[in-house]
Order: sequence, then C-alpha cells, then structure tokens
Amino acid sequence: MPDPAATPDRAQDRAKDRAQAFGVYVHWPFCLSKCPYCDFNSHVRHATIDEARFLRAFEAEIAATAERAPGRTVTSVFLGGGTPSLMQPATVGAILDAIGKRWAVARGVEVTLEANPTSVEATRFRGYRAAGVNRVSLGVQALDDASLKELGRTHTVQEAMDAVAIARANFERYSFDLIYARPRQTPEAWQTELKRAISEAAEHLSLYQLTIEPDTPFATLHKSGKLVTPDDDTARTLYDLTQEICSAAGLPAYEVSNHARPGAECRHNLVYWRGDEYAGIGPGAHGRLDIDGRRHATMAEKRPEAWLTLVETRGHGLVTDEVLLPEERADEFLLMGLRLAEGIDPARYTALSGRTLDSGRIETLAAQGFVARDRNGSLRVTPAGFPVLDAVVADLAA
Ligand SMILES: C[S@@+](CC[C@H](N)C(=O)[O-])C[C@H]1O[C@@H](n2cnc3c(N)ncnc32)[C@H](O)[C@@H]1O
Ligand code: SF4
Repeated sequence: MPDPAATPDRAQDRAKDRAQAFGVYVHWPFCLSKCPYCDFNSHVRHATIDEARFLRAFEAEIAATAERAPGRTVTSVFLGGGTPSLMQPATVGAILDAIGKRWAVARGVEVTLEANPTSVEATRFRGYRAAGVNRVSLGVQALDDASLKELGRTHTVQEAMDAVAIARANFERYSFDLIYARPRQTPEAWQTELKRAISEAAEHLSLYQLTIEPDTPFATLHKSGKLVTPDDDTARTLYDLTQEICSAAGLPAYEVSNHARPGAECRHNLVYWRGDEYAGIGPGAHGRLDIDGRRHATMAEKRPEAWLTLVETRGHGLVTDEVLLPEERADEFLLMGLRLAEGIDPARYTALSGRTLDSGRIETLAAQGFVARDRNGSLRVTPAGFPVLDAVVADLAA
C-alpha cells in the first residue's frame, strides 16, 4: 500500500480539504426488489411511489437543515439508497437545485448517484448528467451470472457491462461495487473476476467482503448451513489478493474497501472518514453538523412514509439529534479515520477529546507492524494492520 500522507505538502492539502469540506447525503429509500444480503434502509413498494411528494419533503428538509447549518459551501453531494437511479432525472435535478438554493456550491463539486446496472436505469444516465450528476457508482456486485442470481440481483453481467459503458460515455467519473468472499468463490476465480473489473473501471472500485447481516434471508440460510461462505483462511487469501492485484494495477486501497487511482478517491466518502461535516437528508439519513461549536449527530426516521409525515407536519424528519461528548467525537474520529490509508492526525484527536493517544500502546502496535507514524506526524494503520483493524482501533481507543 503506498504512503499517501508522507509529505508535508500533502498534509497541508489535507488540512485545507478538511477546513472546506461539507457533504450533503440524500437517501432514496426504495428498490424494485430486496437483495437477500442487504440490510440497508431500502424498501419495496408495489404501489406507485409519489415522487413529487418525496421531492417536496426533500426540499423542505434541505431548507430546514440549511437554516440550522447556514453559510456552508457544499463540496460533495451523494444520492444513495436504496436505488436512487429509480428517481426521474427531473427529480434529481430539483433536489440539486434545492441544495444550490440553500447553500453555496463549490466549483468542481462532486455529485455522485448510486445506480443499479439494469438497462432501464442506464437509459436515464444522460438525463442525470444533464441534471448535474457528474459521478455514478454502479452496484455491479459480481461478474458471474450464477453469483448474480444467488445474490438476488435483477441484472446479468452483460447488462452490467453495458451500463458501465453507458456510464463511461456520460460521466467523467464512475465507480462500481463488487462483493467478494461469496459462496464457493475460489482465489483463482476472484483473481480473474477482479482483473476484468479493473480493466472496466477507470479510476475507482469499491470491493466489499460479503457480510452476513443479521435478520436478512442470507443470515437464515447461513445459520441453517444452506449458504456457506469461505472459511477465514480463504477469506484472508481473497483479501490479500485484492490488495495485491489492485495495487499492482494502480488502484491501491485508500480505505478498507475502496480503491482508487491517487486523486480519484470519492470525495464525499472522505468527508465521513476524515470526520468532516455533512447533512443527512431523507429517510434514515445520518448527519454530523457543527452548531455553536458543538457536533450534532442527527438521524432521520427510517420508515419512508413515517418520515414523509414528519417532514410534512414539522419541516424535518429527524428523530435523533444528539450533541456528541468530546470523547465520543474523538472516538468516532479515530474509528473512521483509521479506515483510511492516510490515517489520522493525532493532534486533532487531542484537540477534539482533550486526551492524547497512549504512546505506549502506539509503540507496541508499531513494533507488531500494525501501525506506523509518518514524517508529518500522521498515525496510520499499515497493510498488515488492516485485517485486524477492529482490534487496533479498540486498543487505541481504550
Ligand atoms: C446501498 S448499497 C447499493 C446500491 C444499489 N442499490 C445497488 O445495490 O446496486 C451499497 C453497496 O453495499 C454493498 N453491500 C450491501 N450489502 C452488503 C453485504 N451484506 N456485504 C457486502 N457488501 C454489501 C454492495 O456492494 C452495494 O453495492
Ligand atoms: S443491495 Fe441495493 S438494490 Fe439490493 S436491496 Fe440493497 S439497496 Fe436495494
């Protein structure tokens, strides 16, 4: 893994980015069908969804959030889901207009839309481009038709590749997601699949190990032994292969599951991992807002129709709005920041919490090869430390 934080210039750039970054996340909570592994806030409705009514609610919540957090300059917008590519381009355009009406928007703002790679959705890509989207993130998930079927996906590999080609033709930036460590997946098969993915991906890939989420159909199948995932050793081999192949192809991991050419990182996701400020709009969306010097952790009602009712009656759908204690904020900073290859600035941890990280623990972890200090003072997890990231973070936060 390269060392993206090794020079002082880079450290200055990071500080500058941090001072300016403000992201807006907008959640579209519907999908055409529910994938059996997924525990995102996504819902299937058989009746037609009243998009105009949702749009009015998004506009109201954007206005209410901007009133609480005025004067920001938006550096990234992320339309996530669910399946936001089910929205009409005009709805997406109106959401972006509402954001632009309430906040200043940075020149070169990154506007990402998550899309499912079906042929129907790909026909809307040109419209999204015209509406102001400049990056798409496609949920390809697998380059193998049997796996796609097992994952409950409604597209084939061919359809996904066609959608990637349409994305390439319409957007200067695009990414796609794959899930690995799938049932029966061998290192050889993953190697071939990943190499094909890299040849199709221009600058960014998200590669997630299959997680068996509680209360999903996959969890039931897994428990009963009908769905068998690779054992720990095979999963580790698949992870190591992923790092090796991506790094060799110029797409190193800049975060646990995200790979990019240097400079092509998803700026919106960096907002989360670097502990910057973001607004959460829509059902179940989380936000982090700095108001009167205190960090507020917000979360909206998850159920789409209940969220609509809340927004229509009182202007926003928040059900949680907590001021984080300094130590909670610092722990979150550590937990999120150490996911990044660039690591964290320990001085910022101290500024947030009033505590310093235990130098004895850092020394021990460094001697084990799990963390390293860079010349600019950053503390980062090493490639050997990432597979045991949770333990490293728990040790440092203790
Ligand atoms: C919000 S979801 C997907 C967006 C879009 N609806 C789609 O499915 O294409 C974001 C990504 O999380 C990943 N994901 C979701 N559930 C997962 C699980 N249980 N294990 C691993 N990755 C998962 C998938 O790669 C997915 O594309
Ligand atoms: S993986 Fe994507 S399409 Fe499938 S249910 Fe989850 S959000 Fe919807």
